[in-house]
Amino acid sequence: MEDPIVVGIDIGTSKICTLVARVENGYNLRILGVGVEPSMGIRKGIVTDIESASRAIERSIEKAERTSGFEINSALVSLAGSHVSSVNSRGVVGISGRVIDQEDVYRALDSAQAVAIPHNREIIHVIQRGFIIDGQDGIRQPIGMHGFRLEVEAHIITAAASTVENLRQCVSGARIEVSQFVLNPLAAGEMVLSETERSMGVAVVDLGAGTTDIAIYINGDVWHTSVIGYGGNSVTSDIAQGLRLPLDVAEEVKLQHGYANLDEIGEEETFSIKSFGSEQPSTVNRRELVNIIEARVEEIFQLVEREIKNSGYDGMLPAGLVLTGGASQLPGIRKLASRVTNLPCRIGKPEKMVGLTDQIASPAYATSVGLLQWAILMSETNQVLTERPGKSRNQTGKKADILGWLKVLLP
Ligand SMILES: Nc1ncnc2c1ncn2[C@@H]1O[C@H](COP(=O)(O)OP(=O)(O)OP(=O)(O)O)[C@@H](O)[C@H]1O
Ligand SMILES: [Mg+2]
Repeated sequence: MEDPIVVGIDIGTSKICTLVARVENGYNLRILGVGVEPSMGIRKGIVTDIESASRAIERSIEKAERTSGFEINSALVSLAGSHVSSVNSRGVVGISGRVIDQEDVYRALDSAQAVAIPHNREIIHVIQRGFIIDGQDGIRQPIGMHGFRLEVEAHIITAAASTVENLRQCVSGARIEVSQFVLNPLAAGEMVLSETERSMGVAVVDLGAGTTDIAIYINGDVWHTSVIGYGGNSVTSDIAQGLRLPLDVAEEVKLQHGYANLDEIGEEETFSIKSFGSEQPSTVNRRELVNIIEARVEEIFQLVEREIKNSGYDGMLPAGLVLTGGASQLPGIRKLASRVTNLPCRIGKPEKMVGLTDQIASPAYATSVGLLQWAILMSETNQVLTERPGKSRNQTGKKADILGWLKVLLP
């Protein structure tokens, strides 16, 4: 059998990134096509202008098609935004003393989905966290065991149906079918977390332009997910306001002179900028800039900490935080995050891939490459099921599926 081809489209607030890769030996990614385009008509995971979003997605796809030589028909697509929410739920089914099989696991997961989900929400992921057989908990893989009663602990992620539909429409406007939506931090987690971190307990924090997305992993599985409505763009607009600069100049100043810790900046450090309305460049004390940046980033991590506390899993994250996303490139951010949350922190970026990796080897592309990792995961495990209301379950993780839903034609 030929190596499968996987395609992911990461639709962010600042950029759209389409990647085409070949899966070698069942798990190695060889990046064949890259299409990065500035994002349009998308803000914090929500479509604000279908027409321009569609065109931007199309341009990104065309670039990836040109570099890879493949025609793309369908892809995994990233999803984020404050319209996403999650609940934990338990499903129960009777077994009557025989050996538990895959069908029983599906039935248990189906029954976990029977929680009250309003009709205006769409289920994006149903993630199994663990099983209980006849009251015995902590079971990771129930298939093949005997029992009378099988319970599954599931994490159900839903999104606003209209928002998902708008996003789907943007992608289909670019003549691509969405084979599955994948929540941003789950894709990022797939890329940047190690097996050990996941089983110890860890949170991945994807600091994007529009949102900061969190996923908490405990005992190897996702236990909690949430989205904070601030990101790198919030920092930029604070700088624009504070220093009275146009947004594009504020962004440039952030990238050139930005830092996360005020106490490390000397009084005498200055730089020059051209501010609104004045012809002459003016001199800015770097402490003034870093003060603005530190305040906002500190606030974001306070919100991250609050999310972790509210989830009830604080104290269960010995592996700490893994920061990723474009805004995690702010120098000094690791130290600030550690100070605010009292957790060890490291920065995660795409690794272990070959091919056209130059442009995407930065934390900003962890979600983009993570989508491809997710495609591989879908092909080899039954851990994650996704269902669209009114449609039969697709992608239950059978090996052959990967080729079926990622149809590609050689030029
Ligand atoms: N060196 C840097 N220092 C600080 N911020 C940076 C740096 N490089 C990029 N950023 C910020 O990262 C953000 C873009 O990150 P990313 O590409 O992950 O966003 P996105 O995926 O488009 O957005 P989202 O996921 O929120 O929809 C921008 O706000 C940008 O200013
Ligand atoms: Mg992103």
